[in-house]
Amino acid sequence: MTTAKEIRSGFLNYFGQNDHEIVESSPLVPRNDPTLLFTNAGMVQFKNVFTGQEKRPYDRAVTTQKCVRAGGKHNDLENVGYTARHHTFFEMLGNFSFGDYFKDRAIELAWNLLTKEFGLNKDKLLVTVYHDDDQAVDIWKKVAGLTDDRIIRIATSDNFWSMGDTGPCGPCSEIFYDHGEDIPGGPPGSPDEDGDRFIEIWNLVFMQFEQQAGGDRINLPRPSIDTGMGLERIAAVLQGKHDNYDIDLMRHIIEASADVSNVSADGEFAVSHRVIADHLRSSSFLIADGVLPSNEGRGYVLRRIMRRAMRHAHLLGAKDPMIWKLVPTLVDEMGAAFQELERAQSLITETLKTEETRFKETLGRGLKLLEDATDKLGSSEALSGDVAFKLYDTYGFPLDLTKDILRGQGRELDEAGFDAAMTKQKEAARAAWSGSGDAATDKLWFDLSDKLSATEFLGYQTESAEGQVQALIVDGKEVPSVTEGDDVMVILNQTAFYAESGGQEGDCGDLVNDSGFKIDITDTQKKENLFVHIGKVLSGTVKVGDVVDTQVKKDRRARLKAHHSATHLLHEALRQHLGDHVTQKGSLVAEDKLRFDIAHPKPVTFEELRLVEKDVNDRIRLNADVEVHLTTPEEAIKAGAMALFGEKYGDEVRVVSMGGPEPSKGKGKNYSTELCGGTHVNRTGDIGFFKIVSEGGLAAGVRRIEAVAGAAALDYVNEREQLLTEAAGALKSSPQELTARVSGLLEERKKLEKELKETRKKLATGGAGAVEQPTETVGGNTFVARVLEGVPPKDLKPMADEIKAQIKSGVIVLIAANDGKASIVVGVTDDLTGQVSAVDLVRVGSEALGGKGGGGRPDMAQAGGPDASKGNEAVEAIKAKLSS
Ligand code: ALA
Repeated sequence: MTTAKEIRSGFLNYFGQNDHEIVESSPLVPRNDPTLLFTNAGMVQFKNVFTGQEKRPYDRAVTTQKCVRAGGKHNDLENVGYTARHHTFFEMLGNFSFGDYFKDRAIELAWNLLTKEFGLNKDKLLVTVYHDDDQAVDIWKKVAGLTDDRIIRIATSDNFWSMGDTGPCGPCSEIFYDHGEDIPGGPPGSPDEDGDRFIEIWNLVFMQFEQQAGGDRINLPRPSIDTGMGLERIAAVLQGKHDNYDIDLMRHIIEASADVSNVSADGEFAVSHRVIADHLRSSSFLIADGVLPSNEGRGYVLRRIMRRAMRHAHLLGAKDPMIWKLVPTLVDEMGAAFQELERAQSLITETLKTEETRFKETLGRGLKLLEDATDKLGSSEALSGDVAFKLYDTYGFPLDLTKDILRGQGRELDEAGFDAAMTKQKEAARAAWSGSGDAATDKLWFDLSDKLSATEFLGYQTESAEGQVQALIVDGKEVPSVTEGDDVMVILNQTAFYAESGGQEGDCGDLVNDSGFKIDITDTQKKENLFVHIGKVLSGTVKVGDVVDTQVKKDRRARLKAHHSATHLLHEALRQHLGDHVTQKGSLVAEDKLRFDIAHPKPVTFEELRLVEKDVNDRIRLNADVEVHLTTPEEAIKAGAMALFGEKYGDEVRVVSMGGPEPSKGKGKNYSTELCGGTHVNRTGDIGFFKIVSEGGLAAGVRRIEAVAGAAALDYVNEREQLLTEAAGALKSSPQELTARVSGLLEERKKLEKELKETRKKLATGGAGAVEQPTETVGGNTFVARVLEGVPPKDLKPMADEIKAQIKSGVIVLIAANDGKASIVVGVTDDLTGQVSAVDLVRVGSEALGGKGGGGRPDMAQAGGPDASKGNEAVEAIKAKLSS
């Protein structure tokens, strides 16, 4: 038997050998088309290559593309389990030519693969073509030797493929496999074409046109090829099965489901096993691509898929959550081809387990309510919208889950009644709403969030993605379009931009499109459930409905990520070294630094900071994966996660854990585990380097730590080094010798200061130990006066004492000028204090210096005056006083 794995690699290799680039599947959440819920065909990632907007380094490609058809335009959710060929998840094998080969080569390549490589019997194959495509008919005749009866012309849109309402499109030709007369069903185009006999296996699209929004269809720059073959279908044909669920790949998962539940794979519960197998695939791949269950948008589609599977697990009688137990089988089957599945295995497992655990809490009670309600109904009477709403609102039953249950009873539900109940609840919420402050802007955001659906954040997975403009706000009012120079707030249906929360600043970057439009976004904020991009239009215009590319400023985001992850490691390191009382009191994650405030009663010592810094850097170098999963707040706290300060939580919380194993936290637990909605590095090694730059008191019992990490840490170290080099340069030294040089200089300065003091003293006193003082006699007594420059006032008294000792008897006046101000000291030797008072004399001197007062004792008094230029006058005034 040819396994699904062999078919997949056979397909890729065949086209690889025919000069096609083997390109990886793009993610299930399209980055280049905001109007598409999930990637639903192989050509989605090449959409802009067909139209010529995007260039790739190859013009032939081959992929096996992950596709999800649930929610949105292509929705197969309700049929899964009941039919042979519906899936919510499938793989589309496809080969592509971007202006390289066209119809003839495409047909030849397809025909040869099917008949030569895969060995299908030619007689079992037939094809359809678009009704007027004579060229395709001729090629099929020539290449495959098909006769006219096996080339069916179809005039309907079945043979004209378009991606959506707009985008690349063209006529197509489909290849069918005939399962034989025993199976009911007619050929394509016949009334019973939907039977199981003739199965379409491959669609070759001759991409020629681009459908434009206004209805015009223009030629693509170069005719191209897009093909799609469902792996599950071709595997069924090659494995001789009629049912996609009987191929090896699906069967292994179904058997695992039977094993785990202990319920036969093929008995009355076959449908449940099929649903579980299909939904396991879509859920796991969606989770691996960053979608997590939520109550809005893509997350809600995922939740609906998961809960539908979980109801079937319940039907199988599973007492405990079981779907997560099938993940290893899925990874065995598909992990080698899709490595993201292996990488995200623990996230997938955790998410499935948590969701099933939670839903089990209400599922049983909800089913009982439903049973009681239907018991009261007539055999074909529809279920009331109110009951369906109660199941939705209180018991977490998505509407399609209730429908799925009723389908088993051949019963419908009153959808209009459900919608009315939903509207009533929204109106009640609106009536109960009260704004937080500024009534006008609060109301604007409330109205907008009521009208628009929540912004989907794609920024955990990517830093650029397209988004469709939902609203434009200028000066607090909605406007239909904006143009160059406008200061604007932009709301998109999805974005790569992170809106400020949890201390992490909002992203900056550009919103652009091909027509030359560009907005410089300087901040992103969250208002209700909307992300608001705030910026100025640099060029062009944009209107509501347009699609723009959201391009986050990458370097800034990398810095924010490094700082955010470093904050988590810092938090844990602080707790380990200071104690468990350390709790977060505030946090800022910015581009240039992180700031972290903690409750701690005293300064964190230098040694403690060094230990904390070392631990953080050790954890960074362990370079273990940063793990993210969703859980309930209660579960998270129970598991030891540290809640973020001041965050409000909804039903789900995101848990971020990192830093590698930490035995003290329990088996399998990481060093740090926190509830956090922020963006983080993938592995701690991406933080690079961590450095604490300051610690200080913020309020009583609260310490603030500032630190840098990643590129900002390099900036910091470089700045420091620059300062050091400059300082060394200024001192004609080198950074290595700087300390010794500074100590030497300080030593020298001390010595010089001492010498200077001595010299001044000598100058003032007329020379060290000099016996002869230049004296005069005034009023019959010896008189010494000095007017000095730059002698500190505090030195005057000791000088006066010294002169007293030298002259033995007399009056001394010392005046010092400092910065234009004068200080004056008058000393009178003890033998003379009976005749003259130093206090009286100093007052006279002070007055001459423009001052007033002065004080001291009869033998020594001190005063000051604002005008040092009057020194000599002061001396003269004192002399006059002494002489009188
Ligand atoms: N894009 C084509 C399809 O999805 C091949 O059928």
